[in-house]
Amino acid sequence: PDVDEQQAFDELIAQDARIEPRDWMPEAYRKTLIRQISQHAHSEIIGMQPEGNWITRAPSLKRKAILMAKVQDEAGHGLYLYSAAQTLGITREEMTEQLIDGTAKYSSIFNYPTPTWADMGAIGWLVDGAAIVNQVPLCRCSYGPYGRAMVRVCKEESFHQRQGFEILLALMQGTDAQRAMAQDAVDRWYWPSLMMFGPPDEESPNSARSMAWKIKRFGNDELRQRFVGMLVPQAEVLGVTLPDPELAWDDDAQQWHTSAIDWDEFTEVLSGRGPMNAVRIQNRRTAHEDGAWVREAAAEYARKQALRERE
Ligand code: 3HC
Repeated sequence: PDVDEQQAFDELIAQDARIEPRDWMPEAYRKTLIRQISQHAHSEIIGMQPEGNWITRAPSLKRKAILMAKVQDEAGHGLYLYSAAQTLGITREEMTEQLIDGTAKYSSIFNYPTPTWADMGAIGWLVDGAAIVNQVPLCRCSYGPYGRAMVRVCKEESFHQRQGFEILLALMQGTDAQRAMAQDAVDRWYWPSLMMFGPPDEESPNSARSMAWKIKRFGNDELRQRFVGMLVPQAEVLGVTLPDPELAWDDDAQQWHTSAIDWDEFTEVLSGRGPMNAVRIQNRRTAHEDGAWVREAAAEYARKQALRERE
């Protein structure tokens, strides 16, 4: 770039201003945004599967309606985020292909099974709770389209988290069997939800640059701490136990002390060897193939429309 383009970019970042699609940007800035935004979009779309698994088996019409609304929201979040990524010069087809051929990542959290109804509560409370902690700072991301998409996503995410908390509360006020089911779900989702924030800062290859470019506003460990601090009082209200006997506030360090997180499990899941990775990708591939005729019909209709308009 000539000096003043780089300088203009650096000044916009320094002033906390937005970088818009038409602005000059370093190629590495563009690439890391395509990486993060597309993976975020993939997470939303894959994230529809664990909950979709319970729409036909929700315990009441009210719960069914709420769960359907939540899964539809996630499809919409995927749409906003794919659209934001497309402003950086990648196509929807390329991103879909990267997801289906396994070269693109999506959040590890969606590679775990949802065997009971209580999982719908644990996902809402823990997974959407973690997503809120991670996504609120992203509303101030330096890249305009991403930050603006996050504002809308965060509004809907808080409804997701509330309904999850409420499902668990109803179960914890129920029978012993319902209480045990809720505790079992919290036990299975707690540690994977901490891994959503990414590896420890010292093992995060992207954090330094993402923070310099004001894409990432806080480090992985700081947001993980913020999330744990939010969960502790809510777990007390619910009457559930967080599955970490070492969890305690360390007043000297002014932070939560937790047991060691199993980063080997994290690496396994990211390498495609989690409990549900193959199922999630196969479902996505099948949906893409089964939907090919719709895309072809829409493209043919658009072609004919364009011809008609030229007549
Ligand atoms: N699952 C999968 N991959 C993960 C991960 C996770 N939980 N945490 C980190 N990674 C990957 C990173 O993508 C990176 O790999 P890459 O360079 O090939 O992309 C590598 O592990 C190292 O991690 P870094 O900390 O260096 O990477 P980042 O700086 O990108 O930080 C992040 C990771 C915090 C997840 C960041 O990418 C981010 O904030 N992404 C946007 C938010 C997001 O994706 N949230 C999770 C989805 S939950 C959701 O949105 C659905 C909701 O509706 C419930």
